[in-house]
Amino acid sequence: MAGLLGVIVLALYGDSTTTYQDPYTYKEGFSKLTPLGETQEVQLGSFLRSEYLASGAPNKISSIQADIVDPRQVFVRADNGGDGGVIFNSVVALLQGLFPPNPSSRSSLANGTTVVGPFGGYQYIPIESVEPEQSIQLQGWTDCPNFEKHTKNFYESEEFKAKAKEAAPFLNEIKPYLFGIPNTLENIWNIYDYMKVNYIHNETYAYRLPPSYLAQAQALVDFHEHGVFTDVSSEGIGNVAGRAALPSIIKSLERLSVPTDPLALVVQEISYKPYISLFNITGLDATYPELHGLPNYGSALAFELRNNDEGETFLRTKFKNGTNEQFRTLHLYGHKEDIALNEFLYRLDLAAIRDLSQWCNECGQRTLRGCTLCRSELTPGNPFKMPFIENGQTENGQCSARFFTSPSSWGFTAIFSVFMLVTFAATKLIKSRKPRLSGYESLPTTEQVFDDTYLFEQH
Ligand SMILES: *[C@@H]1O[C@H](CO)[C@@H](O)[C@H](O)[C@H]1NC(C)=O
Ligand SMILES: *[C@@H]1O[C@H](CO)[C@@H](O)[C@H](O)[C@H]1NC(C)=O
Ligand SMILES: *[C@@H]1O[C@H](CO)[C@@H](O)[C@H](O)[C@H]1NC(C)=O
Ligand SMILES: *[C@@H]1O[C@H](CO)[C@@H](O)[C@H](O)[C@H]1NC(C)=O
Repeated sequence: MAGLLGVIVLALYGDSTTTYQDPYTYKEGFSKLTPLGETQEVQLGSFLRSEYLASGAPNKISSIQADIVDPRQVFVRADNGGDGGVIFNSVVALLQGLFPPNPSSRSSLANGTTVVGPFGGYQYIPIESVEPEQSIQLQGWTDCPNFEKHTKNFYESEEFKAKAKEAAPFLNEIKPYLFGIPNTLENIWNIYDYMKVNYIHNETYAYRLPPSYLAQAQALVDFHEHGVFTDVSSEGIGNVAGRAALPSIIKSLERLSVPTDPLALVVQEISYKPYISLFNITGLDATYPELHGLPNYGSALAFELRNNDEGETFLRTKFKNGTNEQFRTLHLYGHKEDIALNEFLYRLDLAAIRDLSQWCNECGQRTLRGCTLCRSELTPGNPFKMPFIENGQTENGQCSARFFTSPSSWGFTAIFSVFMLVTFAATKLIKSRKPRLSGYESLPTTEQVFDDTYLFEQH
């Protein structure tokens, strides 16, 4: 049947308080989603609802239950990297707009009483919080030494030096508006963030700031972030933010394309970094120069999986640059129309960082984020070979950051491995047969999420 099979949405967080990002490591300080940001996210959720869920929506996903959420049809996850929960809270707000309270969210009790959910039928939807210590997928750029080298090389490049020279008079002029924040081009993200946040939230500051300053700082931050989070090659380490996120997109598409899988909508709330890099990897960067800039709060990038009358599956990409912009179709890889799913998967596969061990190798990371274990596994003669990786998915024994992170757990690993082999074999028997690309760190499948054996494996 022709129509929309399912959608993956990559959503950007909303307005937040100032934060500090180290210009070399991109480690982040604390910040907080503001009521304005919460509103932007609820608006984004409502918008997505009107686009994909509501009855009469132009692009309704036919299989989805729109009013009372069926958690098997919706999969939601959020980067929970060290920003104080801005991204996670953003997706909580987004979901309130996507599946608003509904009086039908109720249950009848044995004694004849009917109970409606709190706040007029609020719906509590599971969200996977993706911790950088457990998964590299949504936060591929931190603790990645080769990425830090790439960043440093960019700062030392002729292009950067020329830009710094050109920007010097401006960076000097804005000193009185920075209250001690170092006014270098390397530090422009922190400069811009401070200016923007105060411009939005502080009346005195907004009145004082000369009109063109924010736009000038924005042009510089766009240059800076594009240089840091892209690379000349889509397989370069500069693109690590997008490349690490690709398996989650590939796996989602794969699940959406299987008719027997109930999954119909995937929402991943992310930082702006994977956006910049994904635009570069998918050739959008080259076709649409306006995408060079940072996306606005509450942006959404959507991959729509569609079938035509001939039963071919293809992909349409849409982007909405914040609350006030249109949701518009973008063409990937210089194409003029939708792209065949197979071509898309093939191209993404070339750029993807498939799993933790590849990430450790490409980043040159040997100890943090689970890489210790990767190394020990790669050592010849290591007797402990695990039968699965993250989320219990693979047969080829690559390392997992999720359960074991230190050598002290090896003994436990050995015993656990035997146990796992048995349960894993048992689980395999009851899983449905699906075509799949091998070797990716995976999303949990609906069967796993709802399968007691799987829950048992986790604990
Ligand atoms: C029915 O059970 C609920 C939950 O135990 C209780 O709150 C409610 O008061 C009961 N209603 C009646 C009429 O007994
Ligand atoms: C607003 O900005 C002014 C400087 O322009 C500063 O003195 C003041 O402390 C700021 N207010 C708040 C609440 O941050
Ligand atoms: C990606 O960005 C780099 C700059 O870092 C640029 O040289 C390259 O052409 C971009 N790739 C595409 C496909 O636009
Ligand atoms: C989003 O819009 C802003 C202007 O509001 C622009 O500067 C920026 O380049 C745009 N970013 C993207 C990714 O489209």
